[in-house]
Amino acid sequence: MPHTVTLLPSNHTFIIEHGENLLQGALRNGIPFPYGCRDGACGTCKGKVLSGQIDRGQYSARALSEQEVAQGLALFCQTLALSDLVLEVHEVGDVVGIPIRRLPAKVDSITRASHDVMRVKLLLPTNQRLRFLAGQYIDFLLKNGERRSYSIANAPHDDEFIELHIRKVAAGTFSDFVFNELQEKAILRIEGPHGSFFLRADSPRPIILMAGGTGFAPVKSLVEEAFYRGLSRPIFFYWGVRSRRDIYSDLPQQWAQRENFHYIPVLSEPLPEDQWQGRTGLVHEAILEDFADLSGYDVYACGSPAMVYAGRDAFLLKGLNADNCYSDAFEFQHPAGATPQK
Ligand SMILES: Cc1cc2nc3c(=O)[nH]c(=O)nc-3n(C[C@H](O)[C@H](O)[C@H](O)COP(=O)(O)OP(=O)(O)OC[C@H]3O[C@@H](n4cnc5c(N)ncnc54)[C@H](O)[C@@H]3O)c2cc1C
Ligand code: FES
Repeated sequence: MPHTVTLLPSNHTFIIEHGENLLQGALRNGIPFPYGCRDGACGTCKGKVLSGQIDRGQYSARALSEQEVAQGLALFCQTLALSDLVLEVHEVGDVVGIPIRRLPAKVDSITRASHDVMRVKLLLPTNQRLRFLAGQYIDFLLKNGERRSYSIANAPHDDEFIELHIRKVAAGTFSDFVFNELQEKAILRIEGPHGSFFLRADSPRPIILMAGGTGFAPVKSLVEEAFYRGLSRPIFFYWGVRSRRDIYSDLPQQWAQRENFHYIPVLSEPLPEDQWQGRTGLVHEAILEDFADLSGYDVYACGSPAMVYAGRDAFLLKGLNADNCYSDAFEFQHPAGATPQK
């Protein structure tokens, strides 16, 4: 049975259909809920249920604690409405009017960026461009009904192609396909743009970017957008990888020629042949060493869930305001309809 959902403080309302979760209902109605993984794992879609009955569905305890449940919080990407609801949610104004579309996309090129990363460029049908914000991602819609998410690596102004950086995952369904079978000119189905990880260009605060591995993809989009818009705020980019061969782009070195851009690669397991003189260890720890107080910064973190969550927790303890912390955890997708182990 459909239910009416009212949002505070905006007073927006929408009708949620039977079987839809709150996020799906909101997006279908053009209401910009914040979200990331859509899988109950990242916590980005968290909001408060002020009145009404819900089923919180399945989610990771890391994304929503028992204490938060007791406070009435829920993950809207998993929550079903059992009655009319009133929710408290911070809508994301910047994505209003950007439609989520399903499109065919032709593989224009596939090039090896490193031993385990492929750079894939997609071309949309003639006269079609994807509107998106720097940092957002698209989904590939697989024939078996599953999806795989990849961050867009180009900036919105440079939208002739959609550039993706795809890392090889051992026995990974989609990455195996990309590395072993995908050919130029192949047609794939995509959906997007998705997510609320994007550049907050109007903020006055200096920016800290933290990426692990192919977390560089959305960082590239954010940085190119920041330069395009002429942002003069300091930008500090920490790129965490295992060893030197995992640094699969020279762009950050080029960007570092700008006065306001600082590049700090951090190797967790440098090899003897790397002869590495730079920073070592975990990338979020390098940031903690360099910044005693993060209260005046915007932090963007993207890459493996372990890195993103460890960083976010530690940064909040160092004064970072939760509203100025944006993250995109590259959670693994799960078969359609399934949810992670809780
Ligand atoms: C918002 C978002 C953005 C993303 N952006 C990118 C991106 O820009 N570039 C990119 O390379 N990936 C990105 N990912 C991850 C990507 O969506 C896939 O999860 C990943 O490529 C693995 O897919 P697969 O089909 O190859 O492996 P699957 O078939 O999904 O997994 C196979 C096996 O490997 C395990 N596994 C999957 N991924 C990993 C991993 N990273 N490390 C260890 N074990 C793993 C699974 O649990 C499973 O057992 C993103 C994910 C999200 C949610
Ligand atoms: S937990 Fe809902 S979007 Fe990630």
